[in-house]
Amino acid sequence: MRQKLFAIFMITLLFLCAVESQATTIRISTDQTELILQTAPDGRLYQSYFGDCLKNEAEIANIKSHGWEVYMGSGYEDYFEPALGIIHNDGNRCTVLHYVSHEQKNVTEGTETTIHLRDDVYPINVTLHYLAYAKENVIKTWSDISHREKKAITLFRYASTMLYFSDSKYFLTEFSGDWAKEAKMSSQQLQFGKKILDTKLGSRAAMHVSPFFELGLNAPVQENQGDVLLGTLGWTGNFRFTFEVDNVGNLRVIPAINPFASDYSLEPGTTFTTPEFIFTLSHHGSGEASRMMHSWARRYQVKKGNGSRMTLLNNWENTYFDFNEEILGHCMNEAKDLGVDLFLLDDGWFGNKYPRNNDHAGLGDWEAMKSKLPNGVSGLVAKAKDAGVKFGIWIEPEMVNPKSELFEKHPDWAIRLPNRQTYYYRNQLVLDMSNPKVQDYVFGIVDRLMTENKGLAFFKWDCNSPITNIYSPYLKEKQGNLYINHVRGVYNVFKRVKAKYPDLPLMMCSGGGARCDYEALKYFTEFWASDDTDPVERLYIQWGFLQVFPAKVLCAHVTNWNHVASVKFRTDVASMCKLGFDIGLKEMSKNELEYCREAVANYKRLEPTILDGDLYRLVSPYDCNHMSVMYVDANKLKAVLFCYDLHPRFNETLYPVKLYGLDADKKYKVKEINLMPGEKSNLSDQNKVLSGDYLMKVGLDGFTTRDMNSRVIELTAE
Ligand code: GLA
Repeated sequence: MRQKLFAIFMITLLFLCAVESQATTIRISTDQTELILQTAPDGRLYQSYFGDCLKNEAEIANIKSHGWEVYMGSGYEDYFEPALGIIHNDGNRCTVLHYVSHEQKNVTEGTETTIHLRDDVYPINVTLHYLAYAKENVIKTWSDISHREKKAITLFRYASTMLYFSDSKYFLTEFSGDWAKEAKMSSQQLQFGKKILDTKLGSRAAMHVSPFFELGLNAPVQENQGDVLLGTLGWTGNFRFTFEVDNVGNLRVIPAINPFASDYSLEPGTTFTTPEFIFTLSHHGSGEASRMMHSWARRYQVKKGNGSRMTLLNNWENTYFDFNEEILGHCMNEAKDLGVDLFLLDDGWFGNKYPRNNDHAGLGDWEAMKSKLPNGVSGLVAKAKDAGVKFGIWIEPEMVNPKSELFEKHPDWAIRLPNRQTYYYRNQLVLDMSNPKVQDYVFGIVDRLMTENKGLAFFKWDCNSPITNIYSPYLKEKQGNLYINHVRGVYNVFKRVKAKYPDLPLMMCSGGGARCDYEALKYFTEFWASDDTDPVERLYIQWGFLQVFPAKVLCAHVTNWNHVASVKFRTDVASMCKLGFDIGLKEMSKNELEYCREAVANYKRLEPTILDGDLYRLVSPYDCNHMSVMYVDANKLKAVLFCYDLHPRFNETLYPVKLYGLDADKKYKVKEINLMPGEKSNLSDQNKVLSGDYLMKVGLDGFTTRDMNSRVIELTAE
């Protein structure tokens, strides 16, 4: 017996020595950044480095271990927030993952790394995925959790990943707000303990906080200098970012689905895949981080990310629910007159037994309302064709009004408590997307509209209610899976729509910008950033969203929200993103209309620069009474500069706007465009030819002391 024990001891010792001498190193690298993971003698996997690519491979072994486990389990020796939490079949809550193997291969984007981990006591497997986009300096990471226990296990933590930092100070910039106040930026220093950004709204999930953040390392986030991590989670539901500073001043960042009310029951043999966490590390501030994220998004993530976008006229703020075929016919002619590509019909076109004439009835009954539209949707498509524009339509297919034929037929398709009075948000309920029958029905709405109305060219897909009355009649005793399976059900439908209609452009909307994540954008070409179209407010909202998303996906419409602001100012504000109008042309003077036509034509001409160029944020509205951004195309031959005066102070000193991103050796013709008819530019450098060097060092007098004034300046290399 003794001999046997001795033999086991020796084998174990030899094994441990072998493991120690053969520490596995995994380098996950873009052209600029790398994340280095290494096994330790305990057989577990730790983050040893995250920063600029290291030149000497041999020195990696010299990096001291911090005990930063890459995918930290729970219930063992760590005192802080874990990545993974499992209740095993025997009630035990401890999970410890050990390194098993990994694979790495080159792909067109860069490199793909897959790492296999396993618990040494329970049959739990975790696979970590990392896709490193070499040129764009973006890394995308997600994890798969599966098991072979006898019965379902319960997951109570399921992070996408974990990242660790060891810097003198950490400053978090969050993007929070409310309806009509989306993506307001604010910053704070992180101190010991946790800062959590999360949502529990289910659908319309990002109404109060957006699923992205900026983290300034050692110093607050700045535009053009300093180390900044820009991170975002691709999840159209409850998310949670945990930032935890520990007792020795290290920070761990944990992006995850919010586990709130979501103890997830996972059957043996099935896999729980977390959402993708997408991040980039910049040493030149948030400006560079945004540009890297934007080019990655256009190239790899967004539906038709490299394609062009349609300008449009929407009728929502013009007519609300009050329209008929004739009125829409006028709108279509106005769209043509304006020179935009598409007319978009908003809410209020459907429902017969329960007509959708306000927001109390009709959601769920996607048949054209005969009293308003006797010739149906196909009649409208034909009318738009006659007018010479394309036709798009609004739907809100994941929702139901209790006053609807759908609800009468399928009351069990709505998320709703069986034993309490129902609470209604905007008089509606959320359909239970965890139910495959509901998924079929929702896909069928789009599919039927597309099949019955050839030529339908665009959808605005809305989602106006959070999940309330949290109970799924379909999931029965597995209510902990509701929030997560609901979102997965939504994705099943998005996937089917994309598979069948790969070229169909769709705008995502959620009572403004409450859906704004990169997973949904795989299926949508753009999103509605906010119902707030007051141009001054919009400057802040667009400034916020542009930190993460390219201008191409940010729908910005000219409306009457702030009719004290000139039509020119409103249009110039919308022109820095994806331009549209939501206004009746009758409300405009002849001059204003002429101006708009020219602005649309200019926009279309400059679209490749604005929507595909590099964004440089020059002057922040958070810092002064002005704002300026510019876009530069890839070969630095064309640039567009936008300068806005918000509410300048009396006799305020104005500073020149120094340009960025130009070629110092090229000469650029400076030309203010988007002028009101008959008006001459008073820009001091109008029509001059100036070098990139001068424009970047001396700048242009882009600002004025006029309230809500704007300038659009085109720069063309000679
Ligand atoms: C939401 C959208 C609006 C509009 C209305 C229609 O609030 O954000 O743009 O479509 O719904 O009800």
